Amino acid sequence: MRKRVLVTAMSFRRSKEALALLEDNGCEVIVSPYNRALQEAEMLDLIKGVSAIVAGNDALTEKVIAAGMPVLEIIARSGAGYNTIDITAARRFGVPVTNTPGANTRSVADLTVGLMISLARNITRLNQSLHAGNWEKSVGGELGEKTLGVVGTGNIGGEVIKRAVAFDMKIVAFDIYPRRDLVEKYGVIYLPLKEVIAQADFLSLHVPVIPETINLINKATLPLMKPTAYLINTARGELVVEEDLGNALKQGVIAGAALDVFNKEPLQDSSLNNLPTAILTPHIGASTREASDRVGIMAAEEVIRVLSGAAPRYPVN
Ligand SMILES: NC(=O)c1ccc[n+]([C@@H]2O[C@H](COP(=O)([O-])OP(=O)(O)OC[C@H]3O[C@@H](n4cnc5c(N)ncnc54)[C@H](O)[C@@H]3O)[C@@H](O)[C@H]2O)c1
Repeated sequence: MRKRVLVTAMSFRRSKEALALLEDNGCEVIVSPYNRALQEAEMLDLIKGVSAIVAGNDALTEKVIAAGMPVLEIIARSGAGYNTIDITAARRFGVPVTNTPGANTRSVADLTVGLMISLARNITRLNQSLHAGNWEKSVGGELGEKTLGVVGTGNIGGEVIKRAVAFDMKIVAFDIYPRRDLVEKYGVIYLPLKEVIAQADFLSLHVPVIPETINLINKATLPLMKPTAYLINTARGELVVEEDLGNALKQGVIAGAALDVFNKEPLQDSSLNNLPTAILTPHIGASTREASDRVGIMAAEEVIRVLSGAAPRYPVN
């Protein structure tokens, strides 16, 4: 009997190559009927009898994983972050969880720099204004000679730094594991977190969601930023207390913010809605054709490997 693979990850569904790879290797592919990340109850409905899940940011809780046993053999996250998967419970049930490190790095780094330029030059606001029939100009700023503060210098943070250096930016950074290559190649200066927050003209977040990073940007840390500074978050919504950021933007504590990720997605009523100094995108960091193909192939290969009895290449648990 063909093993059933449930695909919930939206990026994976876009990759014909990745879907074909699963089918060509004898899998029966079941595509989620939802065009978004699934809630626990929705996952519970779909998980029974499934040998593998190619997951997006779905609620893969202990209850869901338990309901998938004993058939479930692997949860392959199609992407980097796995904060919505209970990896401890998966380990307990002997189900490997894998991700696709580095596969969407370029896409997220490109978006981050795009958001920085949009903030600096008011591109999104002026676009709306001109579409509304106004010929309104505004004076922006250059990236060159400005300080970029990077929190988390892993795959994406490192690629953002590479791009920022091409714009003649100075880089300060915080990471629990500083990277010698970034210091030597790009002159990155590692500093304590508070110093990075205080020195940055653009502060960009690239850490995972773990207890130490949840609510990192809040009403205590926002006032440490320069009033002319911009915050960019293309990592995870949980890193920022949205209400505190909304208040800081309204009160001019900082100049602006660009966010691709939110506490609750899809974003609905939020203190950030309708703020002219906030640029919001609907979690599109990895939404490029190139990243979808790369991520999809990596996730499909992990599924095939594990379903054929081999060890996964990129386990996170
Ligand atoms: N917007 C999107 O669509 C999108 C797509 C992919 C990834 N992401 C998110 O981007 C973030 C970064 O992804 P990545 O692939 O670069 O991850 P990565 O693992 O390569 O890098 C994370 C870095 O954070 C550092 N770190 C961990 N804990 C820390 C702490 N407490 N303080 C300081 N530094 C710490 C690590 O040492 C590492 O260098 C993740 O949150 C991921 O979920 C978002």
